[in-house]
Amino acid sequence: MNHLTDVDVQNKRVLVRVDFNVPIEDGQVKDDTRLQAVLPTLEYLQKQGAKIILCSHLGKPKGKKVKELSLAPVAKKLSKILNKNVMFCPECIGDEVKKTIDGLSAGDMLLLENLRFHPGEQANDKEFARNLGELADVYVNDAFGVAHREHASVCGVTSFVPECCAGFLLQKEIDYLSKVLKSPKRPFVAVLGGSKVSSKLGVLYAFIDKVDKIIVGGAMANTFLAAQGYCLGRSKVEQELFQEALEIIVKAKDKKVGFYLPVDFICGTGVKEKIGKGVCPFQEVPANEMALDIGPATSFLYAEVLKDAKSVVWNGPMGAFENSAFAQGSLNLAEDIARVDGLTVVGGGDTDALVHRAGLRDKYSFISTGGGSFLRFMEGHPLPALVALENCAQK
Ligand code: 3PG
Repeated sequence: MNHLTDVDVQNKRVLVRVDFNVPIEDGQVKDDTRLQAVLPTLEYLQKQGAKIILCSHLGKPKGKKVKELSLAPVAKKLSKILNKNVMFCPECIGDEVKKTIDGLSAGDMLLLENLRFHPGEQANDKEFARNLGELADVYVNDAFGVAHREHASVCGVTSFVPECCAGFLLQKEIDYLSKVLKSPKRPFVAVLGGSKVSSKLGVLYAFIDKVDKIIVGGAMANTFLAAQGYCLGRSKVEQELFQEALEIIVKAKDKKVGFYLPVDFICGTGVKEKIGKGVCPFQEVPANEMALDIGPATSFLYAEVLKDAKSVVWNGPMGAFENSAFAQGSLNLAEDIARVDGLTVVGGGDTDALVHRAGLRDKYSFISTGGGSFLRFMEGHPLPALVALENCAQK
């Protein structure tokens, strides 16, 4: 895979695939973490005198123009951050776009409209990829968050641009995540939370072969407990996965991987409740209530499990943390992992938000900008974006 510093970009048209899939409310970017993350690449390209053409998706417009999913507010926010005008083009392919690019000078920056307004993007359509590729002399992929998607701006485009390489963010993500997977210091602990076992099955199996201990929280823990016959009231469970959940527990035991589930919960009748109904042992969740956060005994247990860890990978909250009545378990965990004397790696938007809310971002070794891509990488699957860049380097 080529690196950005290996490529001559001076005065060249450089198409940079970024992941600006960020929350926007009332025309304002609500969280600019993903913008900040690509600044090293953008500043480098500016200094080198490239003509910078940024492209990204935002949300899931399903191939149609959706006003609320325009990237225009992102161009404004990026202009503010860089203290420099970032131009915006209300299309991402076509003659108008080409004309605007022809007018760019070295160091200028242009953001194209949401790629997913065209059905060709998600379909990895050859013609759409060609139209994108024709805009540039060099293609830089700095969008780790979308590296698991076989989309035109991630994969197809690499066949239609003379030179391709990884940006600094993509490179950093690969370096950190590979480091923790390939040569972890032990004990290596994986912490998985969030609502669904179904979305984490692959990573659960992969971790059983790699880590020493697995901590499970969030609604996905309910499925593991309910599969063993415990009654969890109205808590979310995935009944169709009971068999698989039991198999995972057995596999972890066979491989001597510690598998930790909550021993108590903060319960409530719904995620919007102002205060939780209180702590209950996992065997005693009332019939009309739900487990919405891990309880204090579980926090204590998980702190013990993490105490001697030398490598930790964390994805997913321990409860319905958006509501402060059910956030304490996740916040306690964020602090326990921050205290670990070793490599601590976090992935996923919710988990990043949690670490941010706990004011602990600078206490972690690395916070990935990926959610789905982070999990896919952890599973050990080759990511389509990286395969495309490899193929391009061998052209
Ligand atoms: C993300 O936010 O995880 C990435 O931008 C990928 O978005 P997607 O799940 O809509 O492909």
